[in-house]
Amino acid sequence: MHRLLKHLIPTLAVATCYTTISLSSARAAGTNQLEVFSYWTSGSEAGALDALFQVFKQRNPNVEVVNAAIAGGSGSAAMPVLQTRLAGGNPPDTWQSHPGQELFSRYVDPGFCQDVTAIYKSENWGAVVPKALVDQLTAKGKIYSVMTGVHRLNVLWYNKKVLEKNGIKIGDKLSFAEFVAAADKLKAAGVTPLAVGDSGIWASGDILENALLAKVGPKDWAGLFNGKLSWDSPKVKAALDMYAKFLAYQNQDHSALSWDQAIKAVIDGRCAFSVMGDWSFGEFLKANQKENEDFGWVAFPETDGDFLVVGDSFVAAKNAPHGDEALAWLKAVGSKEAQLNFNKIKGSIPVRTDIDPKELSVYQQWSMADFKKAALVPSLFHGAAATPAFQQSIADAVSAFVVGKNVNAFVNAVDTAAKDNVSE
Ligand code: GAL
Repeated sequence: MHRLLKHLIPTLAVATCYTTISLSSARAAGTNQLEVFSYWTSGSEAGALDALFQVFKQRNPNVEVVNAAIAGGSGSAAMPVLQTRLAGGNPPDTWQSHPGQELFSRYVDPGFCQDVTAIYKSENWGAVVPKALVDQLTAKGKIYSVMTGVHRLNVLWYNKKVLEKNGIKIGDKLSFAEFVAAADKLKAAGVTPLAVGDSGIWASGDILENALLAKVGPKDWAGLFNGKLSWDSPKVKAALDMYAKFLAYQNQDHSALSWDQAIKAVIDGRCAFSVMGDWSFGEFLKANQKENEDFGWVAFPETDGDFLVVGDSFVAAKNAPHGDEALAWLKAVGSKEAQLNFNKIKGSIPVRTDIDPKELSVYQQWSMADFKKAALVPSLFHGAAATPAFQQSIADAVSAFVVGKNVNAFVNAVDTAAKDNVSE
């Protein structure tokens, strides 16, 4: 089995339509429409989604696209609404899903999405999409979604000008001790070292996830989810200590901010660093920030050579109200043009190997080069590594840890949940 897969394995906030029609009429049978359900509403997310719509519209000029996006990073608000619609037999034509456990447990096993293997054949994607990624979309030999791109989660972003002003230089790598020294220097100078926006607790969970990768490592990562590595182990406790140290440097108003507001705090120089997936890169670009001039990045301390993978993809509903349009959408999403246009704005890297890295930014060339040689590790808080129930149990334990910083309480809670949730 491939190195990546060893262990895998409710209120409508925003409805910005491509056309201003109500959702109920959009689902009217037979009309030339396509309802696209996602949670991409931040500046760069919405821009990237629109790039996909553009490619789809060029190919399907007579189809009205309904953008049924619901705000809330990482699907925190959208997923419950989607689950209710699916359970009620009222699916959107297509929706966003993370590959891996989320796709299989939430959508494939319950029979909500359709097998789209035929599209991979007709579009000859087998030649350009790495098997390691297709495997994350495949159950019992059938492929169930089409990826838009691959995000990297083990990235530490920084405001280059704030650091230079405080005499701090960051090279190609950054050890944890170097981060702590820089953060202490910034704190002494009255600068908030770390920007966190965990109105969605996953954003704080991402820091823990990175600390876990730093201390547990890519080889033992599977053990956390298949029961081979206890959450009561010294490695996990070391990760919690590292996590607690990071939290000691965070902004006071972290729980009131969304992830993109935290990145804005780095852009504005109110904070110096942020640990966040490279959907952040999209926000820096959206704010006309220049890479390696206004902002910089480095792999999260002690995770150099590892790539914490967050994939994005779209599925087609089984019995989609607009079945042909849903499949046409997936064909558009997987096209070379869409992969390039989308990822240029979004910050992730294309899944297709026939796209010239020089067409993308310096940051994405860094990410693409690492993706080829790094240890690929599926994300915990972005639906790939843990079952949805286990991910939720860990998220609950993170909420308590952010307040109490109680290592034993965290370990006991997660270790107990692990016993009910190990997945082979
Ligand atoms: C992730 C998703 C990314 C990005 C992020 C913030 O779960 O895979 O594409 O949108 O959430 O919302």
